[in-house]
Amino acid sequence: MLDGRLIALKVYTPPMLRWFRNAAGYVEWKRYRSSSERRAAERRNWFGRASAHERWVAREFFLLRRAWDRDMSVPEPILALRTAVCMEFIGDNEPAPRLRDVELSDVEAQHAFNEIIVCVDRLWQEVGVAHSDLSDYNILWWREVPWIIDFPQAADRRSNPHSESLLVRDVTRVCEHFSRYFQTDAEKILSERFGIMTR
Ligand SMILES: Nc1ncnc2c1ncn2[C@@H]1O[C@H](COP(=O)(O)OP(=O)(O)OP(=O)(O)O)[C@@H](O)[C@H]1O
Ligand SMILES: [Mg+2]
Repeated sequence: MLDGRLIALKVYTPPMLRWFRNAAGYVEWKRYRSSSERRAAERRNWFGRASAHERWVAREFFLLRRAWDRDMSVPEPILALRTAVCMEFIGDNEPAPRLRDVELSDVEAQHAFNEIIVCVDRLWQEVGVAHSDLSDYNILWWREVPWIIDFPQAADRRSNPHSESLLVRDVTRVCEHFSRYFQTDAEKILSERFGIMTR
């Protein structure tokens, strides 16, 4: 609780550290502070894993901040700690449900879909990243608004050569989710909105 508001503390646990071994494709080497740090991370020794851990946390905080400063519907980042991020709690006493766990009306679904696509577009154009793990697991539904969470793996569009294909995957997954409500066309959105041809 902070100033009468509930806050969420996302703690990056040791099992996540193990997961970093598979995350090299997401995190560009340019982000290392020094070449010794990069070499250490490549060797996956203790220092390397600890610094990868901290970088992951800092990245989530940094991207939440950039999106939140632009009035996008993400939790307000409050404080970055070494192994945790403190952020606005999305929900009333209990965490808001994930998109996959709610049944929306057709009007709500259309609104949610439009909001999410605008958010993905703004993340790409203004923040310069593809979320890279966008799905109905990482979108919460609260107060009639879709809230996008879970940013550490977001791919930088300028430095990550996979960012465009990750963006395609994000848009495709969002379309797949909403196809239960209405017809969606990921290819059309990708070409008309993002200038990406998938065929
Ligand atoms: N700001 C928040 N407010 C309320 N609940 C949150 C918030 N951030 C995350 N959660 C809850 O925690 C869950 C996991 O968060 P997140 O997706 O950021 O982490 P994760 O690394 O994917 O964790 P996991 O692997 O356990 O799903 C979310 O599905 C949601 O229920
Ligand atoms: Mg998640």
